Amino acid sequence: MSERIYIFDTTLRDGEQSPGATMNTFEKIRLAHQLEALGVDIIEAGFPAASQGDFEAVQAIARALGRSQVAGLCRAMPGDIDRAWEAVKEAKHPRIHTFLATSDIHMKHKLGKTREQVLVMAEAAVKRAASYTTNVEFSAEDASRSDWDFLAQIVELAIASGATTVNIPDTVGYAQPAEFAELIRFLLDKVPNSGQAVFSVHCHNDLGLGVANTLAALKAGARQAEVTISGIGERAGNAALEEVIMSLNTRRDYFQMETGIKAELLFPTCRMLSSTIAQPIPPYKPITGANAFAHESGVHQDGMLKNRLTYEIMTPESVGRKGSEMVIGKHSGRHAIKKKLAELGFADLDEDQVGVVFDAVKALADRKERIFDEDVEALVHEKVYQKPDRFELIDLIVTTGTGTLKPTAAVCLKVDNEIIQQNSFGAGPVDAVFNAVSQAVGMTPKLERFQVNAITGGADAQGAVTVRIEKDGKKAVGRGSDEDIIRASAKAYVRALNRLAKMTQEIAECSTL
Ligand code: KIV
Ligand code: ZN
Repeated sequence: MSERIYIFDTTLRDGEQSPGATMNTFEKIRLAHQLEALGVDIIEAGFPAASQGDFEAVQAIARALGRSQVAGLCRAMPGDIDRAWEAVKEAKHPRIHTFLATSDIHMKHKLGKTREQVLVMAEAAVKRAASYTTNVEFSAEDASRSDWDFLAQIVELAIASGATTVNIPDTVGYAQPAEFAELIRFLLDKVPNSGQAVFSVHCHNDLGLGVANTLAALKAGARQAEVTISGIGERAGNAALEEVIMSLNTRRDYFQMETGIKAELLFPTCRMLSSTIAQPIPPYKPITGANAFAHESGVHQDGMLKNRLTYEIMTPESVGRKGSEMVIGKHSGRHAIKKKLAELGFADLDEDQVGVVFDAVKALADRKERIFDEDVEALVHEKVYQKPDRFELIDLIVTTGTGTLKPTAAVCLKVDNEIIQQNSFGAGPVDAVFNAVSQAVGMTPKLERFQVNAITGGADAQGAVTVRIEKDGKKAVGRGSDEDIIRASAKAYVRALNRLAKMTQEIAECSTL
């Protein structure tokens, strides 16, 4: 008999805490729909008390979804709990997720509270949340570094006060699999009312053990796994949803567990996140990386040709990888493009947006021999989702040199509806473009990352450039694609500047609330 495991996805909350992974409300709603289609049981949509923007995003997601439960995170404080309920209450299946630190380190240095005071706070918080809904989750933050007997005491109290899920986070990624499994077994055994709640785990990846700890805890009796798409999250991230799922599926013989996840949507979902936050999937990433199913050594290739089972424990198709297909040619009609868009997860585009992508695909087909799924995807982000708001790149000219002639760039941008032209020098052509753009918009952030990838193979492949910038502690990422990598770089930089400008504006708006 298989056990049912509940998948709680926190990409939109913990994941968004990953540097450079900020998403706007529109992007969050799109991803939430995808997570629902993927079969996620509970979607943590955000932390409503954190900002007006977070509140609105959680509320919009709560209104938009039907099947998945929608959770709002809150500290164990009355104002936070009320705000979380306000944000999720219109969901078909709302959940309040309240958390409070239980380790001596956190209680002493962060909260300045004694164990007794923390017990009082936990009881009051869970009771307040339970007065709104029967679907209440309590998280004992830094559980893995907490005193086990105290943890058992607070878990018992939370359940008695109305928590229907209790979460045991490894907040700082400190636990070791066998030890963490032991903790879960201890709690299930020691807490007298443990049978009245679902035990959950939430494992960070600081020592690279997020997935291993999650799986060990499930094997020990936890029944909810808190995970994120591609493992994004605070610091080194969280346990990756796709890795947990494929372990459970590939090793059904060992785990005997089932989830509601449609594995064939794993790859499209990871790709959607990657293009939304403009962070490429690393090639060596399990399940979704470009190399995950590539067999390089001759011995392996020989084995694969004789029988795939020699070196393949799961098929690429089982996680929704079909390989790069040639999809659209010069003569494809609008209907074919619409069908392809739906297949790629863009069924929500309206007729005007389909028209914009159709024109862009046609224009690209004039310049590029073969067009792949990845090209279409890049064009959707380029033309529909990533419309620049304050700054828009109109044109650029670059000349490069190696000696007395320094690389120079001239850019033309629309800045708050005003056309601005600017020239500048640089150490190289990309540097010259970035300098000219910075001067045109009046922002000089630090360039933290600059990465160029070919979207597909071939000499005419589009280049995808990812840029990460930082200013006053705020980080923003932008991605641009083009057959010309200097233009792709300029687009990525302008996009990152737009995101940074938006963050600064949102912070200014919040501080006047
Ligand atoms: O890592 C953590 O402890 C958390 C809690 C809020 C669940 O993210
Ligand atoms: Zn976390």
